[in-house]
Amino acid sequence: PVGARVNDLLGRMTLAEKIGQMTQIERENATTGVLSKYFIGSVLSGGGSVPAPQASAETWVSMVNEMQKDALSTRLGIPMIYGIDAVHGHGNVYKATIFPHNVGLGATRDPELVKRIGEATALEVRATGIPYVFAPCIAVCRDPRWGRCFESYSEDPKVVQSMTTIISGLQGDAPPGSAGRPYVGGSKKVAACAKHYVGDGGTFNGINEGNTIIDKNGLMKIHMPAYFNSIIRGVSTIMVSYNSWNGEKMHGNHFLITDFLKSKLKFRGFVISDWKGIDRITTPQHLNYTYSIQAGISAGIDMIMVPFTYTEFIDGLTSQVNNKIIPMSRIDDAVYRILRVKFTMGLFENPYADPSLAGELGKQAHRELAREAVRKSLVLLKNGKSAYTPLLPLPKKAGKILVAGSHADNLGNQCGGWTITWQGLTGNNNTAGTTILSAIKSTVDPSTEVVFSENPDSAAVDSGKYDYAIVVVGEPPYAETFGDNLNLTIPAPGPSVIQTVCKSVKCVVVLISGRPLVLEPYIDAIDAFVAAWLPGTEGQGVADALFGDYGFTGKLGHTWFKSVDQLPMNVGDKHYDPLFPFGFGLTTEAKK
Ligand code: IFM
Repeated sequence: PVGARVNDLLGRMTLAEKIGQMTQIERENATTGVLSKYFIGSVLSGGGSVPAPQASAETWVSMVNEMQKDALSTRLGIPMIYGIDAVHGHGNVYKATIFPHNVGLGATRDPELVKRIGEATALEVRATGIPYVFAPCIAVCRDPRWGRCFESYSEDPKVVQSMTTIISGLQGDAPPGSAGRPYVGGSKKVAACAKHYVGDGGTFNGINEGNTIIDKNGLMKIHMPAYFNSIIRGVSTIMVSYNSWNGEKMHGNHFLITDFLKSKLKFRGFVISDWKGIDRITTPQHLNYTYSIQAGISAGIDMIMVPFTYTEFIDGLTSQVNNKIIPMSRIDDAVYRILRVKFTMGLFENPYADPSLAGELGKQAHRELAREAVRKSLVLLKNGKSAYTPLLPLPKKAGKILVAGSHADNLGNQCGGWTITWQGLTGNNNTAGTTILSAIKSTVDPSTEVVFSENPDSAAVDSGKYDYAIVVVGEPPYAETFGDNLNLTIPAPGPSVIQTVCKSVKCVVVLISGRPLVLEPYIDAIDAFVAAWLPGTEGQGVADALFGDYGFTGKLGHTWFKSVDQLPMNVGDKHYDPLFPFGFGLTTEAKK
């Protein structure tokens, strides 16, 4: 049994070996000799950092294996666990399948589909030698001004709860009765991480890493429920959030981490900090790292994402244990939990990459799955100037179609943040997929002429004599604080492209965005409007629905406000007066 193996190993470990297990360092620091010298327990690709933009699966495998070899060369040979932000598929590797971000998956209302995405992601991540992902984000985004709203399935706790099926996809189905115990079903599965605990999506004005002002009852009802489901599904790890709860930093919150999560909810996996998360536990009285270490570890965090200053962390924690500021029992609890995950997932037996998984990366079946997810995530918000004159689906024999806008032929924009780089990509380099433009071209009848002009002017639109126009505009990629936005307008020149095209041609506007944006000034000019969120590499899913190979079925997971003055506004609020309510979405039938 795992417990006996953990106890046996723990009983033989020195303090240095224990503290090493609690230390997660950045990939760039993990040069040969570092892991063995400090007994490092985990390495991460922070912000998904990659060895090179087009690094192959083989490059990843040899890099991770090399680090593992170093970790295993120690006296006790404890394997390290490598973690990465695979938050919409393996968004870190050229040729990987990149699925829609969570904002789109929430709109599918299809937990079984999301589970299959978890299964595919696990295989693609394992194909690069990595056994641990910092996903899913189970934030309940209560304000779209938050730069991480696209990582949230919904503003509604129930929808978010329903999508925790992704954990079972990533890790495998936990056996009945194992609630609270971490579960990972072998070397084709990965350890998951529910994040960010807790209240990350509820900060004041949607400020990233801000303050969530809510009473305990509200926190439990809105932000906590998805953690209950995650624990029942055997989630292996939980990441603490940067945000504060009523002014107190989550990274120092003993009540929520130890008393509630570990004792009351009986979560038995390990709690990991966010990147330099403990460094942020500062008060005017305690602006120092020593205090950060003490507060974070005492609050109940088991593994610290250091990520660079590992000697400072290791020395600081060692002296606090030696000086009895932090009891050995706290260290033993942390290491017990970390080792339990490593034993449970079979990391001791299979510490290295499984070469038989090499073909999983970006394989056709995963791309088909992503395409299915894209079309199910689309939310049709307007179809025709009246209900009697629907515009969609468009005919495949359509004469001449104008495709316009900055997001029609741009995989970087389609994929959003957390794609190859932390802040995402520009253009079509460094990721493999199908843009919406190329999908449209391959879907229409050969007799249909498709003309692409990113920013056409009125004269070009009028002289082109187009039968239809498809305008694809939206937000550029971003991640974390870089995405915080108080205006939520469609970035220029999107609005002028919409106005120029839609005033003279029957137009469908496809919005690529991580959240609802201000639409009210343009909606009357638009004939049909599709929220496509951040669909990922498989733009074909958009063309599938536009031309009627499949119907539109998606439903809003986030309320579509009229103006930012209304924010925050969520379903059930007293003054709920949106442009499109939570749950709204028109449907169309697939053409026979
Ligand atoms: O997992 C992420 C987290 O969501 C935000 N901060 C950095 C972590 C590691 O990249």
